[in-house]
Amino acid sequence: MLILYQYGNEIDTNRAMRGRNIILAIETSCDETAAAVVEDGHIVHSSIIASSRLAFERSGGVIPEHAARAQIASIQPVIEQALGTAKCSSKDIKALAVTRGPGLLGSLLVGTVTARTLASIWQKPLIGVHHTLGHLSSTWLDSEEAPQFPILTLSASGGHSDLWFRTAHTEGTLLGSTRDDAAGEAFDKGAHLLGLPYPGGPSIAKAAENGDETAFPFPLPLGHDDTLDFSFAGLKTALKYTIRDLAKDLSSLQIASLAASYQHSLCRHLVDKLTRAIHRHPHSKEIHLVGGVSANLHLRSLVTEAFPDRIVRWPKIISYCTDNAAMIGAAAFFLMQEKGDAAFQTFSTEASLPLGEAVHS
Ligand code: KG4
Ligand code: ZN
Repeated sequence: MLILYQYGNEIDTNRAMRGRNIILAIETSCDETAAAVVEDGHIVHSSIIASSRLAFERSGGVIPEHAARAQIASIQPVIEQALGTAKCSSKDIKALAVTRGPGLLGSLLVGTVTARTLASIWQKPLIGVHHTLGHLSSTWLDSEEAPQFPILTLSASGGHSDLWFRTAHTEGTLLGSTRDDAAGEAFDKGAHLLGLPYPGGPSIAKAAENGDETAFPFPLPLGHDDTLDFSFAGLKTALKYTIRDLAKDLSSLQIASLAASYQHSLCRHLVDKLTRAIHRHPHSKEIHLVGGVSANLHLRSLVTEAFPDRIVRWPKIISYCTDNAAMIGAAAFFLMQEKGDAAFQTFSTEASLPLGEAVHS
C-alpha cells in the first residue's frame, strides 16, 4: 500500500496532558487507510493516509474486496505511525473515533473492528462518526480563526454531493443532494470515457489545463428546476455521445477541450445550486466547499467569483479535501462538545448510513 500523505507535529508535552482533548481517529470508508491524532478539533498532531488506489487506476474504480484486504494489512502500521509521529501513546489519548459509515462495508469493518478492539484494550471511550460529518468538519483543521455559523456547505465527493445549511457543527438541514451520480463519481466516469486514469477529478483537471472550456457547451443540469438537488447523469451521457460522434481516435487537444468543457459544466452546476441556496439563506455568514471535489481549482475560482462579498473557505490542504482521518477526529471533538455523553453511545457499522444522520435538525 502506498503512503499518500504523512504529516507530524509533535504534541507539546510541556503542557499537562491530563484533560486535553486528544483524539486518535481512524478512517477506512473507501480505498484509503488513514489514522490521525487531533487535538481540540483543529490541531493536527499527525495525519497518515495510505491507499491502494494505484491498483485501481486501470479498473476505473475501487474493487471493494481488494481494498479491504489491503486495509487489513496496513491498518496497524498506519495507526502506529500516527501515534509515533505525534510522539504520543495510548495514555495521552482521551478517546478514539472511527468512521461508522457510509462506505464499503468490508473497508468500514476493518476500521471499526480495529477501533473497538483498541478502545477495549486501552479502556478508552469510542465515538462513531458519520463520514459526511467528517467532511463538514474538515474546514476547521489547521484553522486559526474559527468559522462562523450559519454556514452554507457544499459537500461533494465520490460518494455524495449535498448542500447543507448548518447552524452548529452537528446541527442544521440538508437542502439538497444528488438524484443520481455524485459529483466526484461524475468526474471519475467522465475520465474513464476519456481514457484518463482513476481518480478522475485530478486527471480531468490536469487534462483540462490545455483545453478550451467553451469548445463543447454541455447543458446545465436542472437549470430550469427550482430544486436544490443535483443531477450529473445527463452530463455524463452528453459526454459519452459527444465522444461517440467525434473521430475514432481523439487528439490530445480534443481530449483536453472535452475535459475542460466537462469540468466547467460540472462546476457550473455546483455553483448554480449554491447561488440558489444563498438566495434562500441570505444570512449565511460563510460558504464552505468540502469533499474530494473541493480540491478542484476551477470550482474554487468560480465560487470565489460568484460570491465576492462572502467568506468562502475550503480545507487548508488537499489531503483534508479527500478522505482522511483528521476530519474524523475533528468531527468527534464537535460531537463531544455538542452532544455530550450521547457522542459515546454504542453504534453499528453501516454501509448505507442515511445522510440525515450526519447532522440533526
Ligand atoms: O472525499 P473523497 O476522497 O472520497 C469520498 O468520500 O468519495 O472524494 C473522492 C472524489 C473522487 O471521485 C475524485 O475524482 C474527486 O473526489 N476528486 C476531485 C479532485 N480531487 C479528487 N474532483 C475534482 N477535482 C479534483 N481536483
Ligand atoms: Zn469522503
